[in-house]
Amino acid sequence: MRRTHYCGNVNTSNINEQVVLEGWVNRRRDLGGLIFIDLRDREGLVQVVVQPESPAYAQANRVRSEWVVRVTGIVRARPAEQVNAKIASGEVEVVAEGLEVLAEARTPPFPIDAGWRGEQDQVVSEEIRMRHRVVDLRRRTLQRNLRLRHKVVAAIYRFLDQEGFISVETPFLTRSTPEGARDFLVPSRLQPGQFYALPQSPQLFKQMLMVAGFDRYFQIARCFRDEDLRADRQPDFTQLDLEMSFVEQDDILELNERLAAYVFKETLGLELPIPFPRMSYAQAMNCYGSDKPDLRFGLELADVSELFRGGEFRAFADAEVVKALVAPALLSRREIEELEAIAKGKGAAGLAWSRYEGGAFSGGIARFIPEGLKERVRLEEGQTVLFVAGPWRKSVESLGAVRLELGKRLGLIGEGFRFLWVVDFPLLEWDEEGGRWTYMHHPFTSPNLEDLELLERDPGRVRAYAYDLVMNGAEVGGGSIRIHRRELQERMFALLGIGPEEAQEKFGFLLEALSYGAPPHGGIAWGLDRWVANMAGEDSIREVIAFPKNKEGRDPLTEAPSPVSEAQLAELGIALRTPNG
Ligand code: AMO
Repeated sequence: MRRTHYCGNVNTSNINEQVVLEGWVNRRRDLGGLIFIDLRDREGLVQVVVQPESPAYAQANRVRSEWVVRVTGIVRARPAEQVNAKIASGEVEVVAEGLEVLAEARTPPFPIDAGWRGEQDQVVSEEIRMRHRVVDLRRRTLQRNLRLRHKVVAAIYRFLDQEGFISVETPFLTRSTPEGARDFLVPSRLQPGQFYALPQSPQLFKQMLMVAGFDRYFQIARCFRDEDLRADRQPDFTQLDLEMSFVEQDDILELNERLAAYVFKETLGLELPIPFPRMSYAQAMNCYGSDKPDLRFGLELADVSELFRGGEFRAFADAEVVKALVAPALLSRREIEELEAIAKGKGAAGLAWSRYEGGAFSGGIARFIPEGLKERVRLEEGQTVLFVAGPWRKSVESLGAVRLELGKRLGLIGEGFRFLWVVDFPLLEWDEEGGRWTYMHHPFTSPNLEDLELLERDPGRVRAYAYDLVMNGAEVGGGSIRIHRRELQERMFALLGIGPEEAQEKFGFLLEALSYGAPPHGGIAWGLDRWVANMAGEDSIREVIAFPKNKEGRDPLTEAPSPVSEAQLAELGIALRTPNG
């Protein structure tokens, strides 16, 4: 007796057929003699009816939720009043002739059956879900998410293959690749005292593949970064990494737009409008207070510095900038206090405000509102204007955070998928702590050649050929045109305070590669987890990763990381500073 159908696929075309089904008991109900079993597999549910006279009855009486069974039976139409429109097989049921228990199961730690019936799954703490991930993964949403992820990856392969890309694997045991996080280190047994670093990205390998003449490379690549975790960050995560030779920035953006459109069409059946809009970093920061603006709603920040300059309101009169944001509602004092806490969390000194009602300003800094402000910010009756004044970055970023919160609270965030390229990033930013310039993307990104003469003279003004891809306010990808001339790469290292010896020691292999004739090249990496989470409508990338880590970087399922034996440490030549375990 072999399985003939997936449970979820049985339908009216199978009426009167004998079927053999295998799966899990989603739910068993005993209705005065008749036993109903919702049998489940990855495709969904089908209702099995066991009549008292059926040879299956004795076993059916025994089974409980999550037992694994094989059912043989005949498909029949359900009476009209029993049709269940919530499930695909809802017009039919299977009258059991035989039932075999393949495995018994303990009572699951939490119920997982509701989603499969088209209802809401019970909310369970994430820690418990992760501890029992195997059961959790049986839930309908996680099954759906992982299948979507598979479909996205399959579509990526098809598209890039058609476009002439070659998939190449690059090593996990390697040297440090600077992407701004800490490295995960792996001790070497054969070279005691020496360590591999797990790659933060395949950046240098893909550049070397370009020098090696592969022209178009891609990889679904695991990356490892030891950084603080958030809903959109995991210590090991996946990139769609790609690189192209003899291209300019526009070629890369255009190819990736077509890739995104193809994947959306193939997986969700949606037409993505391309090309995606482009916005400079400066404009994104000034108008949205973020380098990854969520364009699903408006609410742009306005610069009102000039209106307050030299005015009565001391705190604003000589501020570097004064930024304003209009909330399309009369906010209560309490709401404003909550928003102020958010602004302060991002470094603002405070959040000034005033309401506009009955044709006049009231509350907050009403008496300091300068002439022309209402027109400048296009304020209307029944709205509240909010201000942050201070240094540029802190002001725009804190008001940007307030904007996002307002978008959520006032229900302004629209449906659908909004993509955006953010371009013209600065090449460098000033690192206060280190007292030096540091790269914004990575040290291999090419300066905009128009700004080359500023490189040593005014590094902060140099733009990079770097771009980020933003989807619904999340940074889903980032890339750049690379430096392909050795001399320029050396100049860049010098600017970053990496002397010739250190450059040679850390990146000698790259410099050498660049001296053997490197084509102009560039590329991008998509954060695959973020991309899929966004498509699936999930807030956390943990919902699209089969076995994720929790916020402490632990895996509650396997209990990694874990102590190792003295013998293992001794073999690696390692003595712990603090006792093991
Ligand atoms: P970048 O560091 O911007 O670029 O990374 C590319 C994309 O990877 C995703 N991402 C992450 N996703 C989950 N967890 C993390 N910890 C995490 N860190 C990053 C983001 C990000 O946009 N080598 C360059 C790419 C290039 O220049 O071609 C790089 O890695 O979505």
